[in-house]
Amino acid sequence: MPTLESISLSNSEIHLWICRSEAIRNPSLLARYSTLMTPEESAKQSRYHFEKDRHQALVTRALVRTVLSKYAPISPEDWRFDKGERDKPEIQPPKHIEIPRLRFNLSHAKNFIVCGVTLEKDLGVDVEYCQRDNDVLGIADRFFSPTEVKELFSLPENKQRSRFFDYWTLKESYIKACGMGLAIPLDDFSFSIIDSSPPQVSISFAPQRRDIPEHWQFWLMYPNASHRLSVGIRSIDKKDYQLKLFETVPLESANPVALPLE
Ligand SMILES: CC(C)(COP(=O)(O)OP(=O)(O)OC[C@H]1O[C@@H](n2cnc3c(N)ncnc32)[C@H](O)[C@@H]1OP(=O)(O)O)[C@@H](O)C(=O)NCCC(=O)NCCS
Repeated sequence: MPTLESISLSNSEIHLWICRSEAIRNPSLLARYSTLMTPEESAKQSRYHFEKDRHQALVTRALVRTVLSKYAPISPEDWRFDKGERDKPEIQPPKHIEIPRLRFNLSHAKNFIVCGVTLEKDLGVDVEYCQRDNDVLGIADRFFSPTEVKELFSLPENKQRSRFFDYWTLKESYIKACGMGLAIPLDDFSFSIIDSSPPQVSISFAPQRRDIPEHWQFWLMYPNASHRLSVGIRSIDKKDYQLKLFETVPLESANPVALPLE
């Protein structure tokens, strides 16, 4: 598929663009990515201490810009972004052209960058690398809701780590959709997961969190053996969103894809 070919996005779809950044090593392609960034983005990217972080930041900016250009007649280098109250990036509407009301959210974790795109609705995306050696029960006990903690502790030991990352990514997708980061206490909302294919996910809220479960739809995905991926969308008027997945190498390829990835 030619890279900048346009693609249509209906108001009942969410498009998820996956990029496995570590395989992208072609120096001339990476040099082209550099030309897409604003001076501020370049300065931020070059400040990362480790090469792997500079690489991920470079590919991330190229991913966001090339993906958005598939939905509107704007060149990748011409997108400009604003930040919400807690730094959630949003598209700055271009001055001289009317474009679809695109929203996006992105997440990165070890060799995985995911950019979700939708029309108008609040969207949160989170990907986590699950092979980390962290104290999952300790973190859950401290931060998760009482019902999540109870469910996690009741599982056989060999299922607890996996379920922890289910909750973690789902909780991140909610706070990222709200744009509020950790300003929302993580025990003010609670996920329930039914292990089916695909998993069935629902959210509930503590009374002090004035939000409505019926306004939300979530997906929990297993893109490969080491990563967990969650997406959440807030929609007051509609549910039944369709998720469409693509894998891309920015400026080089873009293909529909199914999970798990090969
Ligand atoms: C900053 C935060 C929004 C996500 O952080 P994260 O999980 O470390 O990082 P991710 O890769 O998933 O997401 C980062 C991207 O989210 C976007 N983002 C930044 N602030 C955001 C906000 N307030 N809301 C939504 N998205 C935001 C940005 O695009 C950012 O990438 P960029 O800087 O390359 O543009 C926030 O949720 C946070 O601080 N999390 C800390 C992790 C944690 O303790 N989670 C507990 C879960 S149980």
